[in-house]
Amino acid sequence: MLNIALPKGRLGDKVYEMLKTIGYECDDIQSDTRKLIFVNEKCGVKYFLAKPSDVATYVEYGAADIGVVGKDILVESESDVYELLDLNIGKCRMAVAGRNDYVEDINRPVRVATKFPNVARKYYRSKNREIDIIKLSGSIEIAPVLNMSDVIVDIVETGTTLKENDLSVFEEIFPISARLIANKSSYKFKTDEIDTIVSKLRNNVK
Ligand code: PRP
Repeated sequence: MLNIALPKGRLGDKVYEMLKTIGYECDDIQSDTRKLIFVNEKCGVKYFLAKPSDVATYVEYGAADIGVVGKDILVESESDVYELLDLNIGKCRMAVAGRNDYVEDINRPVRVATKFPNVARKYYRSKNREIDIIKLSGSIEIAPVLNMSDVIVDIVETGTTLKENDLSVFEEIFPISARLIANKSSYKFKTDEIDTIVSKLRNNVK
């Protein structure tokens, strides 16, 4: 039995469709239910629906053998897992953004509001720039608008949230897409099963 952690929500739905296409269906998953675990004995799969930001943790601890997670979460969590495949969906980018009229004061640290403190720290360290992190958990765009931060480090997909709040992208940090990840010891003991999924998925990546 292969345990697969999927992110709850739109990305998880897309990933499930890909897995269904290659023969790992588990139809209950698409029914209107609050259940979080779905098994298909015939296909040898058990799916868990996890909070997207927790998928890498389930995989790292071995509760799931494989999982699908955004590159943003993978980089932020620094999880000790194998990254097996870029699924080329859930595409967006990690960026520094701020008010259109922002002027940097180089004599003090940059105040950075973010859900991704590790990403922000690493990025500014690489630029040798001191920062103060303001950790938030959502609606990060409010921080610079209210002058609580100078900039944000956040995900930009369509750019609509930034535009509608008079903010713009200053720098792009890295591109993001969904990645198939595996627990390191699961990969050792279930190599064939996992490799089979990887190669079938690879053929379906657009
Ligand atoms: C993400 C991100 C931005 C928004 C970007 O937030 O943090 O706020 O999406 O998308 P856009 O460029 O298409 O406007 P999410 O919807 O995950 O909610 P959150 O603010 O609660 O984190």
